Amino acid sequence: MNPITIAIDGYSSCGKSTLAKALAAKLGYSYVDTGAMYRAVTLYALRHGIVKDGAFIEEDIVKSLDHISLSFRFNAATGTSETYLNGENVEKEIRQMEVSNLVSPVSKIREVRVRMVALQREMGKNKAVVMDGRDIGTNVFPDAELKIFMTADPDIRTQRRLDELQSKGSVVSRDDVRRNLMERDYEDTHRKENPLIQAKDAVVLDNSELSREEQLEFVMRLVKELAASQS
Ligand code: DC
Repeated sequence: MNPITIAIDGYSSCGKSTLAKALAAKLGYSYVDTGAMYRAVTLYALRHGIVKDGAFIEEDIVKSLDHISLSFRFNAATGTSETYLNGENVEKEIRQMEVSNLVSPVSKIREVRVRMVALQREMGKNKAVVMDGRDIGTNVFPDAELKIFMTADPDIRTQRRLDELQSKGSVVSRDDVRRNLMERDYEDTHRKENPLIQAKDAVVLDNSELSREEQLEFVMRLVKELAASQS
């Protein structure tokens, strides 16, 4: 089968990255977590006092983009790729609630999106990539051969996110996690620039009741159907 581009979009904490990573490993493709890129920009802004007490000056974030270098490196020990901000591994820090609470407003800024989308297109230019985010199938790679739109019950998503944060040692309440997810869903679907919407040719995957294996099987079936139609 010729290498393809797989775009996975969907709501916050639907398990997009878990599925995308498994899929990339199975196919020998690279994986790009675009949410991590917006999170890293947000972390940079927080660390440099550009975002303070939840408020920020858009212009200052835009100026900071020239000082931000983002990359992903594969960690053989964990078997996943990790996010680097100016050469520093920030994989853990970008998942903290402080970043989650500010990433939606930061990702709304037009110039931030333009810069991130250009990087994402560069990272995926040779295909053989699984990329997850909010606007991959609609904006970054509208010609992706396979597009998945993921959704899941909000209570289940809250529980998954809570488990993930607690397993990393964060002390957070269920209410705070749920509020953050709901707010981000709203912001991500209502923003002007590249909002989260289902691409017309995307296949919907509601994974509320599906195991990881079942989700992987579901998408692998689609990949095989695509391969059969190509030959
Ligand atoms: O996938 P995530 O929850 O780590 O993404 C964090 C935020 O980044 C999300 O709330 C919206 C933004 N985002 C975006 O605007 N476009 C993308 N392609 C990916 C993420």
